[in-house]
Amino acid sequence: MWAGFTSQGKPIHSSEFDSGMNNMCLFIFVILRQHRSLYVDFIMLVDGEHYQSIWLDETDKRVVKVIDQQKLPFFFEIKELRSVNDVFAAIKEMVVRGAPLIGAAGAFGIYLATLEDKPAVDTHKHLRQSADLLISSRPTAVNLPLVVNSVLERLMKITNVNALKEAALDAALEVCSNEVERCRKIGEYGIEIIKDVSRRKNGGTVNILTHCNAGWLACVDIGTVTAPIYLAREKGIPVHVWVDETRPVNQGARLTTWELGQQGIKYTLIPDNTGGHLMQHGMVDLVLTGSDRTTRKGDTANKIGTYLKALAARDNDIPFYVVLPETSFDFSISEGLAETEIEEREPDEVTHVTGFEGGEIRSVRICPEDACAANWGFDVTPAGLITGLITDRGICKAAENDIVNMFPEKFR
Ligand code: MRU
Repeated sequence: MWAGFTSQGKPIHSSEFDSGMNNMCLFIFVILRQHRSLYVDFIMLVDGEHYQSIWLDETDKRVVKVIDQQKLPFFFEIKELRSVNDVFAAIKEMVVRGAPLIGAAGAFGIYLATLEDKPAVDTHKHLRQSADLLISSRPTAVNLPLVVNSVLERLMKITNVNALKEAALDAALEVCSNEVERCRKIGEYGIEIIKDVSRRKNGGTVNILTHCNAGWLACVDIGTVTAPIYLAREKGIPVHVWVDETRPVNQGARLTTWELGQQGIKYTLIPDNTGGHLMQHGMVDLVLTGSDRTTRKGDTANKIGTYLKALAARDNDIPFYVVLPETSFDFSISEGLAETEIEEREPDEVTHVTGFEGGEIRSVRICPEDACAANWGFDVTPAGLITGLITDRGICKAAENDIVNMFPEKFR
């Protein structure tokens, strides 16, 4: 039996506790479970064990560990990152992906950069170069430059090398715990939307459509879109999720299905082009998607295909909410379409499909060998198509005044 969690999210087994501490923890846990309104006890499970998507190896603090998301759901593998270059490659190759997670990975990348041997005078230069490298790995999600630059700013004031290492680690761990807390709050605000639908349906199942993966795998823990869903389930509200497969790399088919399945949430996987049909037939109550960059006006860049779901939702009068933490806003820009850099990835993600056969992961071509293919990773949903933004500060309209009121300190 477990009695709590380590900071890496690993369960602490009761045998590891002295008995007094053990009883105390169990007592607190029982009280919290009985008073769920006081505390949301989200526990993200992998075969019954709690994991986060990134953590520091407690036995070797020179190692950062991540779940290899390229291998999911076929293999559950932990990958070790030991250098800035490792982190750069992990983000670029989408071993870690999802806006909040790549921000957190970037913070750990800077920490690993502080461990790399450089003459003291060169350290700050090395950190700046490392930050630039990390930021260049993927261009669309704002979390990456935002987090990396803020960690860097903290470190630039420190000259002592050991103090720098410590401060970098503190900063990375803080980034992670803040992201978890934000998701927790998003859940508490977002559940109100699900409760409303549930009331209108007299307690009938709430059917939510989502795109890509905006769950705990994309964040550090809990997830953004998934936070209200997991909380609804905890509160006994029946929910069912339509999961867009999300071509070309199938984050919906591979990751969201796996994640929801592990948490015991009912879902149905659908091809990307099915959502409109479901909406026309009254089979979708609510669309919840994530964000990689939301402007101060509310325009939102998210995984390619999100815009089409927003159009279909508008045509069918279905609420379309973007769910995001503060770290996915880019308050410095206004016009999403004109000002967001959209990542273009390798065409082979389009010409090939990766799956599992004969005990191994295989990639097969799905078009003529010489087919010309293009691979834009994200699109922009204009604010006018968004019913509202579910944030860690509350729910607001996707409109400049409302966003300014929600985050006043960002505009001073
Ligand atoms: O290319 P990815 O998998 O990094 O894209 C992820 C998404 O588009 C998510 O929806 C977004 O990052 C929000 S994650 C909470």
